[in-house]
Amino acid sequence: MSFVQTLQLRNFRSYETVRMEDVHSGLIVLCGPNGAGKTNVLEAVSLLTPGRGLRSAANEEIQKKDANQAWAIASNVETGGANVQIGTGLDVSANKRAVRINGVPAKTQMALSDYMSCIWLTPQMDRLFLDTAGGRRRFFDKLIFAFDSGHAGRVTRYENAMAQRSKLLREEKNDDVWLKSLESQMAETGVAIAAARLDFVVRLQRACDMAPQNEENFFPKAYLALSGTVEELLARTPALEVEEMFAYQLRQSRAKDAETGGAATGPHKGDLLVRFAAKDMPADQCSTGEQKALLIGIILAHARLMRSERGMPPVLLLDEVAAHLDEDRRAALFDLLQDLGGQVWMTGTDESLFSAARKRAQFWGVNRGEITKK
Ligand SMILES: Nc1ncnc2c1ncn2[C@@H]1O[C@H](COP(=O)(O)OP(=O)(O)O)[C@@H](O)[C@H]1O
Ligand SMILES: [Mg+2]
Repeated sequence: MSFVQTLQLRNFRSYETVRMEDVHSGLIVLCGPNGAGKTNVLEAVSLLTPGRGLRSAANEEIQKKDANQAWAIASNVETGGANVQIGTGLDVSANKRAVRINGVPAKTQMALSDYMSCIWLTPQMDRLFLDTAGGRRRFFDKLIFAFDSGHAGRVTRYENAMAQRSKLLREEKNDDVWLKSLESQMAETGVAIAAARLDFVVRLQRACDMAPQNEENFFPKAYLALSGTVEELLARTPALEVEEMFAYQLRQSRAKDAETGGAATGPHKGDLLVRFAAKDMPADQCSTGEQKALLIGIILAHARLMRSERGMPPVLLLDEVAAHLDEDRRAALFDLLQDLGGQVWMTGTDESLFSAARKRAQFWGVNRGEITKK
């Protein structure tokens, strides 16, 4: 199991320097008033994995205002008995986030995925089922990354090829050979992305179906489905044929795409469709509380799937998760998280929200740039 054992921040958001020692492997609760810096800590943990973290922030946002030195995070991460030192922070000369593992610079951030994976839920995600398809697609792709770090590379390659094609079309450079090569890259990576999504939605559904009975009483079962032209074709047609069909579609839509930008169809338009199983109700028509409960159910299923396939659940970052749950649901959630057996970071303004976890959780107080164990 991997978990964060120590966490040290320097010039990170509201923190000048702060250090958390002997963080335990189970439930962790960060309490403190609004604006104390709780979410900032969760964001720091999320940056121990590849990507831009829980706020998708740029380096300039993360950098503490008026600080002279670059932001940095250092952590000892326990990974199945071995201890690894992870360091990350702004490399000023290259103006990008750099990563060190046991003191050795890593070529890319992707190296982090060998040590830890992280899944988060933030208050902004309460609107996941109401907002655009893009948010749900990124959420779902993120769940896949936790199992298959290659998926991130595929998505990036696809988006790069699409951006280059858009630029050519916009500039009316009708270089057929170049366009064709970009479209065949899009077709190849696009079909691989759709295939990974199709495979994963089946596995995740199975994990949702296998929820323990006590879970379904509080976190309703979801039915998951994918929409998207390539995904739908691929469910009934051999991959090579779909690749040709998609490349053909792209060629046909050049004129239209030149006007609208992007591409008319493709996995960049896919969506994750979620239904509340017992009511057979689309998630966006459920109550706010039901939507939150559905989302938590999906996260729990994902963590269980990861534990059964990989031997360990991801580190979970649940920002303000207790706020919208009633007392029974909160208590059930802490039990389920405890049963998962992984490290879970939770935040809240009010310690009493976590009273059902009092004996099991490690409590930390966050206030004005300081973090103290309670
Ligand atoms: N780059 C930064 N430099 C200095 N302070 C920052 C920076 N980014 C965010 N903050 C401060 O961090 C605080 C918010 O921290 P946050 O972790 O979101 O609080 P909460 O405890 O409510 O989750 C705010 O007061 C904000 O002004
Ligand atoms: Mg917060």
